[in-house]
Amino acid sequence: MRTQVGIVGAGPAGLMLSHLLHLRGIESVVLESRSRDHVEHRVRAGVLEQGSVDLLCRAGLGERLLREGLRHEGIELRFAGESHRVPMTELTGRAITVYGQQEVVKDLIAARLAAGGRILFEADAVRLAGLDSDSPVVHFRRDGREEELRCDFVAGCDGFHGVSRRAAPEGALTTYERTYPFAWLGVLAAAAPAVTELVYAHHDRGFALYSMRSPEISRLYLQVAPDEDVAAWPDERIWAELRTRLETVPGWSLTEGSILEKSVTPMRSFVVEPMRWKRLFLAGDAVHIVPPTGAKGMNLALADVALLADAFAGWYDRGRADLLAGYSATALRRVWRAQHFSWWMTSMLHRLDRDDPYETKVQTATLRYVATSRAYATSLAENYVGMPEV
Ligand code: FAD
Ligand code: PHB
Repeated sequence: MRTQVGIVGAGPAGLMLSHLLHLRGIESVVLESRSRDHVEHRVRAGVLEQGSVDLLCRAGLGERLLREGLRHEGIELRFAGESHRVPMTELTGRAITVYGQQEVVKDLIAARLAAGGRILFEADAVRLAGLDSDSPVVHFRRDGREEELRCDFVAGCDGFHGVSRRAAPEGALTTYERTYPFAWLGVLAAAAPAVTELVYAHHDRGFALYSMRSPEISRLYLQVAPDEDVAAWPDERIWAELRTRLETVPGWSLTEGSILEKSVTPMRSFVVEPMRWKRLFLAGDAVHIVPPTGAKGMNLALADVALLADAFAGWYDRGRADLLAGYSATALRRVWRAQHFSWWMTSMLHRLDRDDPYETKVQTATLRYVATSRAYATSLAENYVGMPEV
């Protein structure tokens, strides 16, 4: 099998890259280890920055997004028994849209298949070869047989656990990382959201987040221990803990419903530089991870591949190598902005160390500063809705 750009991974990064390349007349094949059903139903991110919505709309993918996505102009911070709204749109002129990652993935798969695009599901990339030549090969396994995809370039969009990043030789890439001493227990519930905007809550027992997917479905998160076992969280315990951490404002109560899905996600910050080795270009979670508190992961994945698609178009249409050469440095500016913001939100909102009262006092002072200073609130808001230029 042969193509121009071989793409490993059918998450938001790989699928969007394939779609953007197609719009510019460049061929690609996407290899995805899981089934179509699996990737279309994996519950993950939910917040799209204004820039991501604009990108999806420009690429012809706005129809369902604009109809079903929930546009939010603010978020709420709860701490010390108080509630404060950060009016993002008033402060920045921009907004976010709540639209599940699996909906973005479904829209992208439908668009690629309608255009005759090639996505091979249950095709597991096992090894990349010839990356320092002008015809790299992705070896993959499908139906128990090993096959080869030959291409001009490989785009490694295979997430944190993928094989692409590991194909660069030892010492070629530098890793920067931090793990946090907590995880998130995420639940999807058949309950009408009791809020109209997302609520980020700082509580002595740990962080809680109230998000949503639709007027009927709530998405909720609790800070838990890093090695937490989901089995230790029967539904009643989850609701009780959510009530404790979120019902801190007089007159407000949760709406409960049946829990449809629950899972534990570890929290880490991680960047690998550069985002390229020879003919391998890395994008999305394959090359950087942020803790989800800033809602940046999917947005960064989309921003990376928008740059990468432009760079490939420069190469194929005009013989320009400079955009490909500059891809990593340009992308890393946005990546590090999001790293700082996600680390800052995480540090401000989670219970860091129960035995350090000084830490808790500083967190409350930071939250109160956001709540009372237009300048500081604007800093949070412009990062949250996404910086057009970084
Ligand atoms: P992925 O979505 O991980 O896609 C990689 C794909 O590669 C997968 O489909 C995988 O099956 C495939 N793959 C892996 N190895 C191979 C192989 N060897 N061969 C073939 N295929 C392979 N981000 C936000 O922006 N906003 C949020 O609100 C937000 N909330 C989150 C909440 C949670 C609970 C979690 C877990 C994440 C959240 N994120 C959020 C992060 C976001 O989900 C990720 O950043 C996003 O999925 C990155 O997309 P990607 O395409 O780079 O990687
Ligand atoms: C989500 O809706 O899944 C979500 C929202 C905001 C975050 C993280 C996740 O910061």
